[in-house]
Amino acid sequence: IGMDMRTFSCALLLVTMMPLSTKASSKIYIVYLGEKKHDDPSTVTASHHDMLTSVFGSKDEARKSIVYNYKHGFSGFAATLNETQAQTLAEFPEVVRVKLNTYHKPHTTQSWDFLGLDYDGPQQQQPQQQEGLLQRAKYGENIIIGVIDSGIWPESRSFDDTGYSPVPARWNGVCQIGHAWNATSCNRKIIGARWYSGGISADVLKMDYNSPRDLTGHGTHVASTIAGSQVWNVSHRGGGLGVGMARGGAPRSRLAIYKVCWVDGSCPEAAILAAIDDAIKDGVDVLSLSLGGSPGEEIFETLHAVLQGISVVFAGGNEGPVPQTVLNAVPWVMTVAASTIDRSFPTQVTLGNNEKLVGQSLHYNASVISNDFKALVHL
Ligand SMILES: *[C@@H]1O[C@H](CO)[C@@H](O)[C@H](O)[C@H]1NC(C)=O
Ligand SMILES: *[C@@H]1O[C@H](CO)[C@@H](O)[C@H](O)[C@H]1NC(C)=O
Ligand SMILES: *[C@@H]1O[C@H](CO)[C@@H](O)[C@H](O)[C@H]1NC(C)=O
Ligand SMILES: *[C@@H]1O[C@H](CO)[C@@H](O)[C@H](O)[C@H]1NC(C)=O
Repeated sequence: IGMDMRTFSCALLLVTMMPLSTKASSKIYIVYLGEKKHDDPSTVTASHHDMLTSVFGSKDEARKSIVYNYKHGFSGFAATLNETQAQTLAEFPEVVRVKLNTYHKPHTTQSWDFLGLDYDGPQQQQPQQQEGLLQRAKYGENIIIGVIDSGIWPESRSFDDTGYSPVPARWNGVCQIGHAWNATSCNRKIIGARWYSGGISADVLKMDYNSPRDLTGHGTHVASTIAGSQVWNVSHRGGGLGVGMARGGAPRSRLAIYKVCWVDGSCPEAAILAAIDDAIKDGVDVLSLSLGGSPGEEIFETLHAVLQGISVVFAGGNEGPVPQTVLNAVPWVMTVAASTIDRSFPTQVTLGNNEKLVGQSLHYNASVISNDFKALVHL
């Protein structure tokens, strides 16, 4: 996927980009212990290991079973267990809940002008013009937004850091190095990046970047929709369809990237919780999760982020079970859904018998379609 496609996709609404893989449920369980009892993360981790050691009867086995320790924003862990072991843990008095790890899948988001958040860049602002909502919010200046998704493509012009002041001193996160990702992949716009591969099979990991780099484009789309800087003259495939400026809703804000979704379209809940736990410690102001599980699989642990003063925003989902059903509707988060868009892409298609049909397409005109079709046929 080239850059034009990535930047253009900010303007599209409610497109499901990846199917949910039909993954057999793994034996990773999430053991949730509620508020942490100690400030020191290593003490919290040690208490998890003690608990597991008493179940396994072996320190070594216990350590091997751990997938994630949650120790900053709340206490808990993800571990590979069998049913008996999970049941034993559930009976510990300090355990709030034990559940099998589930796989969430990515969602998408909305268009800002359609919502009335018009962009008047600082240069275009007339003095007599009334201050807009976005301007009063300083376009998100110095707000740190954590995006929990499939990573990011840092070379996209949406994340150019030209003109940004240094990273806020209160930022406590990291730029985690990996495949096709080094320290210079972070900048003053993408100020932090981490990745979480626990709960993903080796086969899937082999096909994706083992780093914060985004292979599918979903996380890049979401991050640029939220926080992308202005990029002029973008269009679908650079071909003139839907041409305009791409920019995020809070175009001056900073991004912290947490990659939990992988190329098979799955985002293990165990990994999402690790990202939330780290994001609380890192010091994000807002957490955005454009993903969801099945109805009833809301991520209750987001409450710990909200208790630390972080605004948590979820996408409402792209599908039913029945129309007008929203996912991720827990009362302490903001759940955003869109039901329509304010533009269309009419395209005329000319058939072999010269009959002309008008419909909607992501191709600008019929000759483009037939060229692409020819290319496909020749493959
Ligand atoms: C789980 O593993 C333990 C050994 O650690 C074993 O005693 C128990 O029978 C196993 N339970 C199941 C359901 O496989
Ligand atoms: C890694 O850093 C060097 C500069 O030190 C840069 O030229 C290169 O493009 C970077 N690689 C990636 C994959 O970002
Ligand atoms: C956008 O493209 C038009 C026409 O190609 C050009 O006149 C204009 O200067 C471009 N704007 C920017 C900001 O690059
Ligand atoms: C339609 O497609 C052809 C072939 O790609 C192109 O030359 C032409 O400019 C396109 N028409 C418009 C209105 O973009």
